Amino acid sequence: MDKLTWSDSYSVNNKVIDDEHRTLLSIISRMEKLVEDGGDSLTMSTLLTEMSDYAIKHFRSEEQYMQSISYPKVDEHRELHSTYSIQVLKFTLNHLSENPNRPAEVLEFLKDWWTAHIVDVDSDYALYARTSASD
Ligand SMILES: [Fe+2]
Repeated sequence: MDKLTWSDSYSVNNKVIDDEHRTLLSIISRMEKLVEDGGDSLTMSTLLTEMSDYAIKHFRSEEQYMQSISYPKVDEHRELHSTYSIQVLKFTLNHLSENPNRPAEVLEFLKDWWTAHIVDVDSDYALYARTSASD
């Protein structure tokens, strides 16, 4: 699995949201380090909870921003955020069960989801903000 690091190509031209995305990626990097080091399951559980809590805060701020620029696809974007939140909640609960997901599997989901979401989905409101501002 490749390491996940911030790249300027992830920027959505909004400092607050870029900083939140950086924080989310750094939580994933800490998880990645933990998995590599064969870390304990309690720390993994703490990181998963931290990830859920921070993502909820971030989604709220991103949805407010999309509304503030009258982004037309805000509802479908919000749907993606809820589907993700439910999935992470499932991982968090499953982590405490007798047959937890493998940490590497959870990590892969998080890395894939965030990179695809930022690059393919968030970039669309960034483009909208840029083009509608120049109208
Ligand atoms: Fe988003």
